[in-house]
Amino acid sequence: MMNDNFSFNPVTITGIGRYIPETVITNEDIAKLVDTNDEWITSRTGIKQRRVVSGNQTATSMASKAAIDALEFAGVKADEIDLIIVATSLPDSLYPSTACEVQAEIGAVNAAAFNIVAACTGLVYGLNIARNFIMTGTYKKVLLLGVDVHSRFLDWNERSTCILFGDGAGALILEQSSDGRNDILSVDMHANGEKAGELSIPLNGKNCPLVEPNETKQQYVNMNGKEIYKFAVSVVPRSIKDALIGAGLSIEGLDYLIPHQANMRIISSIMDRLGLKEDQVIANLDKYGNTSTASICVALMEEILNGKIKQDSIMAMCGFGAGLTWGTAIVRWRAKDKRKK
Ligand code: ACO
Repeated sequence: MMNDNFSFNPVTITGIGRYIPETVITNEDIAKLVDTNDEWITSRTGIKQRRVVSGNQTATSMASKAAIDALEFAGVKADEIDLIIVATSLPDSLYPSTACEVQAEIGAVNAAAFNIVAACTGLVYGLNIARNFIMTGTYKKVLLLGVDVHSRFLDWNERSTCILFGDGAGALILEQSSDGRNDILSVDMHANGEKAGELSIPLNGKNCPLVEPNETKQQYVNMNGKEIYKFAVSVVPRSIKDALIGAGLSIEGLDYLIPHQANMRIISSIMDRLGLKEDQVIANLDKYGNTSTASICVALMEEILNGKIKQDSIMAMCGFGAGLTWGTAIVRWRAKDKRKK
């Protein structure tokens, strides 16, 4: 847990962007592949449809579009960005990093660039890394991206996992605040590697032919759904409460919860455990499924454009997923859409 410390540079979010691929896969479409139906998927998850990449769309192409969207929102030019962080578990390649590929794609010629892996908590982890670089004065403008292409890493014959995920990208621009107000009020981050096996995608690989053989051919999502469900509903409410304490706030001070969009039953349980009202909780997974690292931005941006999230709204952005990892950022929203004249 890092507390706000005003001897550091104040940090604010100035831009948000997202990209969702055009191709829609409905629950009825999935029922053509595996023995399932819309009623089962909707009642267990809340998901009605998801978007997936098609043809030569990539993590980099989606992330670059989200990045351009966020830069325009913030009124920042690509060459003003000092650092690009891409939170992704499902990039196009192990190297080069997605961050380097995005740097080239958008022309952020002055930016350092790297990827991080914290699965569906990646945006919260990345937010903390970005704000620390700004707080300490290392950088002034950071582009943070969350992108995952789950559809290429699912076993489309496995009905308990292929129904859950969608593809997408989200972006935030973080800057040193120009008026001295700090808007990233606290960040709470955790990991429990002892439960790593509950949710994983092993990489395929094969030993050197001169040594004892070993080969892995399972590059698909492996998930213990019940354990992930129990994990999420037990740790996330505590993380949100701790992050609020770190920000000097109580639950009454929270306007909106923007949870990782994994599953509507998980989100409802978190809402009940915190005593939040339905209209305080932002959810759009019915349309996009679980877009993993992108999901918080994908949900948040929709409600900013709809006008629900207003200036000075206090939000809890919480993530949870493989690792296992989980965490919460308490953020005051003050970004103004520079595209609006
Ligand atoms: N359609 C129809 N039946 C299904 C389907 C499906 N798509 N999937 C599983 N079933 C069947 C099972 O085969 C099983 O049948 P059986 O009783 O004859 O053996 C039955 O439904 C019950 O299966 P469970 O796995 O026990 O189903 P459960 O009620 O736990 O629901 C689910 C499964 C939806 C995956 C649930 O465990 C869950 O939501 N877990 C959380 C998963 C999650 O959100 N993961 C992502 C978060 S982390 C991240 O974002 C990376």
